[in-house]
Amino acid sequence: MSEPTHGSTVEQEEVVLKDTSDHDEIAIETTGPDGSVLLEVDHVTLRFGGVVALNDVNFQIRRGEILGLIGPNGAGKTTCFNAMTGVYTPTEGKIRFKGTEIAGTKPHKINQLGIARTFQNIRLFPEMSAMENVMVGCDARHKTSVPGALFRIYRQRPKEEELPDNGIRRAFAKVFGISRHTLEERAGRRRSMELLRFVGIADRAHELARNLPYGYQRRLEIARALATEPELICLDEPAAGFNPAEKEDLMGLIRRIRDLGHTVLVIEHDMKLVLGVTDRIVVLEFGQKIAEGTPDEVARNPKVIAAYLGEPDDAA
Ligand SMILES: Nc1ncnc2c1ncn2[C@@H]1O[C@H](COP(=O)(O)OP(=O)(O)O)[C@@H](O)[C@H]1O
Ligand SMILES: [Mg+2]
Repeated sequence: MSEPTHGSTVEQEEVVLKDTSDHDEIAIETTGPDGSVLLEVDHVTLRFGGVVALNDVNFQIRRGEILGLIGPNGAGKTTCFNAMTGVYTPTEGKIRFKGTEIAGTKPHKINQLGIARTFQNIRLFPEMSAMENVMVGCDARHKTSVPGALFRIYRQRPKEEELPDNGIRRAFAKVFGISRHTLEERAGRRRSMELLRFVGIADRAHELARNLPYGYQRRLEIARALATEPELICLDEPAAGFNPAEKEDLMGLIRRIRDLGHTVLVIEHDMKLVLGVTDRIVVLEFGQKIAEGTPDEVARNPKVIAAYLGEPDDAA
């Protein structure tokens, strides 16, 4: 499979950087699945006028686990994500991330703290390429200020592998250094490409997001969320609209995301799918938590069977 050859300078840099890329780079440091609490939803109630979207909901997400959040349509799953990521402020209750209260904090701030999400209805920058969409996520991690980026003020001595191939540019960079902004931009580009490869869509890195097939767009959203180096990644129905084979693939990807060291919260409608990939499951119905446990426990729970599965046979 060949990479797209658009012949831009971006592309050339890509090739150079790819050879030196360190594949461990996308791994983040965490303590692994040690069972300690990463996020806590503590008696959260959220009302929209007369609608009680969440009613005294309580659960914890443990470091390193894949936690499933399931329930029928309108159960409050997305609202729960929205409360955790700063879109809505709970009417009552607290949400703590690593022990710090985050309810009511602005979404970008929560992202900086280490929580990223994808959306039930895909949200990408349609007129940007796949790679640029991921670079936006990487940018959230950059240190250079806007004036610093504009005037390329801060220069630093590049490492050997960061030097340009071109002789004159190379000599110049050796003497005067390379601006921190340029180095960050290149690192972002390299990392974006790795993430696209990781989610399996690198073959169309340079295509506009809006022209990508639906499944690619879903994966691109995941890559962009990962680019912000989240400790916790929340996926809102990532397999919606997928056929069974694509769903199976996606579950594999979710496992690999966890193996990189991220904690994963996944909303999913397909009960069987969730049973196969999650460590624990929380079940919501009409805004209330009706069950919590291992996939086996949840699948056998009569309340869950009645509320969500309809037929006991579906639990198998
Ligand atoms: N912004 C909103 N304004 C009013 N009601 C809302 C809003 N968002 C969600 N709701 C209501 O909250 C309930 C839970 O919705 P949601 O969290 O989207 O469910 P789920 O994701 O489980 O399908 C539904 O009754 C929905 O209509
Ligand atoms: Mg939803």
